[in-house]
Amino acid sequence: MSPITREDIGEIAVLSCDYPPVNALSHAVRKGYIDHLDAIRSDDAIKAVVVRCEGRTFHAGADITEFGKPPQEPHLPDVVMALETFPKPLVAAIHGTALGGGLEIALGCHYRIADPSAKVGLPEVHLGILPGAGGTQRLPRLAGVENALDAILSGRHVKMKEAAAWGVVDRLAGDDLKADAVAYAKEVVASGPRPTGDIELDGAKYDEAFFANFRKSIARKTRGFFAPEQCIRCVEAAVSLPLVEGLKKERQYFTECMQNPEAAAMRHLFFAERQVARVPGITKETKRRDIKKVGIIGAGTMGGGIAMNFANVGIPVTVLELNQEALDRGLGVCRKNWERSSRLTADDVAERVKYLSGTTNYEDLADCDLVIEAVFEKMEIKEQVFKKLDEVLKPGAIMASNTSYLDVDAIAAYTSRPSDVLGLHFFSPANVMKLLEIVRGKETADDVLATCLDMAKKIGKVGVVAGVCHGFIGNRMLSGYGREANLNVMKGAMPQDVDKAIFDFGMPMGPLTMADMAGLDIGYFNRQSMDRNSFDTRATDWLDRLVEGDRKGLKVGKGIYDYAEGSRAPVPSPEVEAIILEESAKLGLERTSISAEEIVERSIYALINEGAHILDEGIALRASDIDVVYVYGYGFPRYRGGPMHYADAVGLDKVYARLQEFASIDPDNWKISPLLKRLAEEGSSFAAFDQSR
Ligand code: CAA
Repeated sequence: MSPITREDIGEIAVLSCDYPPVNALSHAVRKGYIDHLDAIRSDDAIKAVVVRCEGRTFHAGADITEFGKPPQEPHLPDVVMALETFPKPLVAAIHGTALGGGLEIALGCHYRIADPSAKVGLPEVHLGILPGAGGTQRLPRLAGVENALDAILSGRHVKMKEAAAWGVVDRLAGDDLKADAVAYAKEVVASGPRPTGDIELDGAKYDEAFFANFRKSIARKTRGFFAPEQCIRCVEAAVSLPLVEGLKKERQYFTECMQNPEAAAMRHLFFAERQVARVPGITKETKRRDIKKVGIIGAGTMGGGIAMNFANVGIPVTVLELNQEALDRGLGVCRKNWERSSRLTADDVAERVKYLSGTTNYEDLADCDLVIEAVFEKMEIKEQVFKKLDEVLKPGAIMASNTSYLDVDAIAAYTSRPSDVLGLHFFSPANVMKLLEIVRGKETADDVLATCLDMAKKIGKVGVVAGVCHGFIGNRMLSGYGREANLNVMKGAMPQDVDKAIFDFGMPMGPLTMADMAGLDIGYFNRQSMDRNSFDTRATDWLDRLVEGDRKGLKVGKGIYDYAEGSRAPVPSPEVEAIILEESAKLGLERTSISAEEIVERSIYALINEGAHILDEGIALRASDIDVVYVYGYGFPRYRGGPMHYADAVGLDKVYARLQEFASIDPDNWKISPLLKRLAEEGSSFAAFDQSR
């Protein structure tokens, strides 16, 4: 049965699509449209048509599950064209989120009415493609070139107030969208069809300089991506060509996007992000605890940032510090961060501040449902905090540690209720970064985990479940990545060579610039308390020498790089280069030139290999979870889909062969994951591994 049904109300045919969950424009839906239009075309009793959807939303786009499969007719652009050229007026009735192909269907209709709470958007760029069913040609005609570029390049969901101001919809509905749409259809019978494609744009206004400026304005954000440039080219075509010619260009650029690895990578992430919430043992039926009040221990950068997340969504949050001065300072920083946000009005800030309070007294946290500790990373301090929390918190309260490395099971054991304890590892700045590692201890109760997974979504985070180990998923993988970067410097590359190669690969910055930003002394002190046999000192002795020479990083104006006063821009340092040469010589290493390709392979393959160990040990549930961690927590380029997807794209056989070469030189550093070896030898992939479980 077709997912589209027809109901005639007098002279108006109402086409309703019912294809849960989001009325995606699958083959059956597209065919349904063509069949109904054919029937209505010759039905003289029908004078106009309403196009609408049942359920939670108007069409949320093309059916992403069909991407990568052989396309089936009718194609979406043909459906939209069939709508636009239909001889009787068509009214789209929009509710929920009309996205991608959904909005393109609405743009193909001649008139649009919407529920005031609806949103529209062309999010294709987030899937590595472009609106390929006429969106790049019709939206500029209807909304104006600037607004269309904004919508297409940002992919954002545009609220109805703004969309109406752009002219995307003609009318806002009252309480009954369907009835209002039918009434509107009756009105427009007299006006007849009004094809969006007939609107002419003022080509002269949008010249080369206009587009050059636009390209410049988004260059930083879109570095390395393929689809954004293709989107801009389409809009240029909309401005300079008639609709039919513009549509041909759109098809050409769309096909190029589909064939680019970026599309597969971004699609992988779309589904990966939705998979993370699927956790063995947790179902819809798993009980949840109420989170009505939250406590945060520590008003430092991390504690304050975490607190902001809860106040942002109207959950009262109390921050605890040991002295009033530190507390005031911490709460003041939260306020300033909100005030600095261009997206918030003074009223928005006041609203948030209302939910934020402070205390120096643990007893004030007694009625919290969830308390997150964000104090100094030392086990003795965590012990004190958790013993105290165990004493004061009400039964059933969830106790979480924001530790980045420490043993969550050991922390839980400081309490009399380890099943209420887990790790909630936020990433800095915690009010901005979307990743939350949810660390499931061996005794963490299912309802505690389920509650925190839901809570992550509520505060706008992507929550990824990790098992207990040193550094969990993300930080554990970093160790090899950093080691290889540092070793490359000893073996022949200069810091700027390493950083440039990794930056060009797509990371937000190179590992050595990042080390300077974090402060070289942090790693230094960490190493002082470690057994020197437990890590490769060749990678770190040169860094120790920098710290001992007072080159602690950006905060003191010199580290691996020099920094001009007041500047954050790293400048290669002749002093450091001399130290590097001396230290290499001391190690007896013969410096050779290392290509950018090898620099990338060493660091990124180290990530992949550790990721495979983590997967094999069950610390991560899926390879795709690891990808989500790296994209959202570490800025791994989205267009590469995360380290594990990237490994699949390169080919595990190739990655494995290279790992073997590295292991033959440095066997202690390169313990190849047995899982990776097996998948490579079977000609398999991490994606296939995920699917098989
Ligand atoms: N195709 C197929 N399935 C889709 C889908 C789509 N376009 N959009 C969402 N789904 C599925 C999700 O995978 C999810 O499935 P499961 O329940 O099996 O996991 C289900 O619908 C619900 O999705 P969410 O969990 O994301 O629900 P939400 O309420 O949080 O969000 C939404 C709803 C805003 C529509 C969100 O799903 C979304 O942003 N979807 C993608 C929209 C999009 O990118 N559309 C453009 C598609 S490309 C296009 O249209 C190309 C073109 O022009 C030719």
